[in-house]
Amino acid sequence: MYRKIDRNAPCWCGSGKKYKTCHMGFDEKIIRFEREGHIVPDRSLLKSAKDIEGIKRSAVINVAVLDEVGKQIRAGMSTQEIDDIVNEVTGSMGGIPADLGYQGFPKSVCTSINNEICHGIPSKDIILKEGDIVNVDCSTILDGYFSDSSRMFCIGEVSPEKKRLVEVTKECVEEGLKAVVPWHFLGDMGYAVNCHAKKHGYSIVRDIGGHGCGNAFHEDPFVSYVTEPGTEMLMVPGMVFTIEPMVNMGTHEFYTDKVNGWTVYTADGLPSAQWEVEVLVTETGYEILSW
Ligand code: MF3
Ligand code: CO
Repeated sequence: MYRKIDRNAPCWCGSGKKYKTCHMGFDEKIIRFEREGHIVPDRSLLKSAKDIEGIKRSAVINVAVLDEVGKQIRAGMSTQEIDDIVNEVTGSMGGIPADLGYQGFPKSVCTSINNEICHGIPSKDIILKEGDIVNVDCSTILDGYFSDSSRMFCIGEVSPEKKRLVEVTKECVEEGLKAVVPWHFLGDMGYAVNCHAKKHGYSIVRDIGGHGCGNAFHEDPFVSYVTEPGTEMLMVPGMVFTIEPMVNMGTHEFYTDKVNGWTVYTADGLPSAQWEVEVLVTETGYEILSW
């Protein structure tokens, strides 16, 4: 996977520097982990300075959209109105909603309420009501760069149980972020997320998770939370991925809507929450790109 490059040849990263004074040491480190049997990222997953700048510009729109949704969301509003806000804000800032038409998805954002785990489809017939918890999952394309993040919103007064679920799920992401350390493993991150959920008696969905992101909507690796420390892909500076655990109050089992083919529900009908952050691995830790 890591083809040997002449020491004096130009570095693969496009810096214009000689390989030996640029990424040679970096590559040798990756190769050592690979020899030890670890999963390492392909070079195509490592973002250049130009990529990172582009992803950040895309993320400015994504964050602005979620901020605007946060200002307007309330009981009595339809989820179509959330879709309208997404289209309006994204369009006015020069972006494109990444969800629209993605594998045939019919709307520009996912709005998932209570027992809906993810991929809820906005509709003028779905009206938010007091006590609902809603995930708004937004993704933006700008100049070919992708940003992706989601937040939970509580509509009016929600039950203490649901409020706790929303808070603990956010803490799960924060615990995961603390474990994003260069040259550590994605499995360390997932383990931290899962431990926090389990500590509160919750379960995490297994087969749906995070992903590499930036130059495409969904890139490798698949980011799971049902992982052990020291496993999964090595986290290397320049990698960008999402942490987006779907935390269920009851069972982790789910089913998919047979009619619309998209919406995923908890098998037991109990509530589910999700927060999603897009994160860059840096030389010293991480940087949040979109939340
Ligand atoms: N935004 C989701 C994610 O976090 C993907 C939604 S795909 C859609 O990866 F088609 F449902 F919009
Ligand atoms: Co995502």
